[in-house]
Amino acid sequence: MSEYKLVATSAMGLESIVADEVKALGFNTTSDNGKIYFQGDETAIAKTNMWLRVADRVRIIAGEFHATTFDDLFEQTKAIPWERFLPVDAAFPVAGKSVKSTLYSVPDCQAIVKKAIVERLKMAYKRIGFLDESGPLFKLEVSILKDKVTLTIDSSGTGLHKRGYRVGQGDAPLKETLAAALVKLTRWNPDRPFVDPFCGSGTIAIEAAMFGQNIAPGYNREFLSEQWPWIKKSVWDQVREEVEDVANYDQPLAITGFDVDPRMVKVAQENAMEAGFMDLIQFQQRDVRDLTVEGLNGVMVGNPPYGERLGEIEEAEDITRVLGRIMKEHPSWSVYMLSSLENFETMYGKKATKKRKLFNGFIRTDFYQYWGQKQ
Ligand SMILES: C[S@@+](CC[C@H](N)C(=O)[O-])C[C@H]1O[C@@H](n2cnc3c(N)ncnc32)[C@H](O)[C@@H]1O
Repeated sequence: MSEYKLVATSAMGLESIVADEVKALGFNTTSDNGKIYFQGDETAIAKTNMWLRVADRVRIIAGEFHATTFDDLFEQTKAIPWERFLPVDAAFPVAGKSVKSTLYSVPDCQAIVKKAIVERLKMAYKRIGFLDESGPLFKLEVSILKDKVTLTIDSSGTGLHKRGYRVGQGDAPLKETLAAALVKLTRWNPDRPFVDPFCGSGTIAIEAAMFGQNIAPGYNREFLSEQWPWIKKSVWDQVREEVEDVANYDQPLAITGFDVDPRMVKVAQENAMEAGFMDLIQFQQRDVRDLTVEGLNGVMVGNPPYGERLGEIEEAEDITRVLGRIMKEHPSWSVYMLSSLENFETMYGKKATKKRKLFNGFIRTDFYQYWGQKQ
């Protein structure tokens, strides 16, 4: 096994949650905007891909250096031992981005990096002529920020938010990684009831169920690095075995999702079935105006409709008002709502215990947190 410099990428604002997840898997971290750095071997790559609920991807950092000329970029890229990562038949497209840097032409940077790696590999593998790139895929990225070049290899492939259970979705589904982050922020544990009154395609409820039964988010999918020759199949087999060993399928769950739209209830049920939670999560058609909750010390999480046009904003405000009125009767419950309504607290009728700024895609939202009084 070798050691690699690794980075888990995350949406802005979720770095501390991803850092906690990486630490919980046994690695030391340092964080920067949307990036959580750590070090580990092949098992670390497999394990983090399998277990990180909130991260977008896990990348390997192949090299980092400063460059302000194309010559610099070429020579320093060529100096990296690419043969350590790429077999002779590797297919390796190079994506790119450049921010506030002297080398700003991204297509040129991509072409130069590609050329430098081809030369390096031809030298290392003693090849003349073309590399046929008929083998496993390595998605490379050249990223330049203030003249600092970082060359990375994506070990995840499809983004980690794709768990493999979403067979259907509504108009505004939450990304699974953000839904998982919301669940984590509530500090819910499966002994407490859990309700999403605006469940849509069921993402938050399904993420809570996976978390509650300690099921790895990646258990139902594959990762690009599984095709790479230098991560042995036995590494993945062991990580998957562990996933089975620690999953707590017997953990009872009291998770309910409601939505006013019967089509969304059906979609949520189909997604839950795909995730293996058909009988464990209750989805029901219900307008929030008829919402009732049972039990004490429950956790309510949701992203109500934001409302973009005039009539819709009034409806979103009314929904918030109704929710506030209903939940006033359940002081032991904690309520967490992700909303872009700037007057959310006024409509809800109470100042939030805590607010956290989060981006739902490009929409700036706040995660309004009303902590219950434990009974
Ligand atoms: C932003 S979406 C939630 C998306 C969901 N988190 C997901 O991941 O798919 C808001 C949901 O609230 C539902 N909704 C709108 N008005 C409602 C009401 N009065 N009562 C209950 N649900 C409502 C919509 O049908 C929609 O599915």
